[in-house]
Amino acid sequence: MELQLGDVQTTALIPLAVKASETLRENPRIRDPKAVEIIQYLNIDTKPYDKFMSHEGVIARTIMLDKQLKEIIQEHPDTVIVNIGAGFDNRFSRVDNGKILWFDLDLPDAIRVRKKAFPDHERVTMIPCDALKSEWISEVKSSLRGRKSKPVFIAEGLFMYLTFDQIRTLLENLKEGFTEGGTLIAEQNNKMLVKNEKFHDTVKNTNAHFVSGTDSAQEIADLTDGISLVEEHSINEEMRKYSLFGKLFALLFPKMNDRWATFTW
Ligand SMILES: C[S@@+](CC[C@H](N)C(=O)[O-])C[C@H]1O[C@@H](n2cnc3c(N)ncnc32)[C@H](O)[C@@H]1O
Repeated sequence: MELQLGDVQTTALIPLAVKASETLRENPRIRDPKAVEIIQYLNIDTKPYDKFMSHEGVIARTIMLDKQLKEIIQEHPDTVIVNIGAGFDNRFSRVDNGKILWFDLDLPDAIRVRKKAFPDHERVTMIPCDALKSEWISEVKSSLRGRKSKPVFIAEGLFMYLTFDQIRTLLENLKEGFTEGGTLIAEQNNKMLVKNEKFHDTVKNTNAHFVSGTDSAQEIADLTDGISLVEEHSINEEMRKYSLFGKLFALLFPKMNDRWATFTW
């Protein structure tokens, strides 16, 4: 199949390729049969997208966010979750409790490809929309009616492709759209990677560019009033469990890896 995806949309092939190849390993740390199916269907060369460091990072960040979401869902079983910049992510199937509502939001061309791979589901909605626009908000908002829990927004592999001004726009839209409050869990890129993107083992094989990064997610919270940083965890915390390289990397470069940051308002 010929893929017609924009530059940043193509980056979704990186986690997709990683999750597919991990699933086919003898003892996979995560299982994503849908990723295997999509890769086989697309029939693309995954080598440029599946290199050691990216592979370990994607697996670690996936395990960490799955765990955090499962804990949230256990405490708030009727949660509404919005996956901002969903790409080909199949997290709903791993965390679903039979009650949550889920939205996969991405740019229209990404959703067009996604729709070919993911069947309709009564509690999952795909929204083809730029996350920086406010059009998608009313659809999510109306789904909150009758639900007690505040909405949760996840952004995995997204913020590094947005400028600080764009991140501020997104935060303000969330705050103004969901006035009862909410939680945002967003992956943070390291500032150093923005300058050294040509050394990134997989993103350098796409035409996308890192445009922002932080030393601390407090810099994101400071972009607008009323957003608080709750916690921040380096992906090293998980990555170091799996290989000597991961252990050494965490020891030598504790600040170099991406981080998961949780914000509330
Ligand atoms: C690196 S991929 C991550 C995909 C997915 N979250 C995952 O981890 O598998 C980045 C995704 O963000 C999406 N994206 C980038 N800018 C966006 C925007 N302004 N609105 C919605 N989605 C966006 C891209 O299309 C792409 O699917």
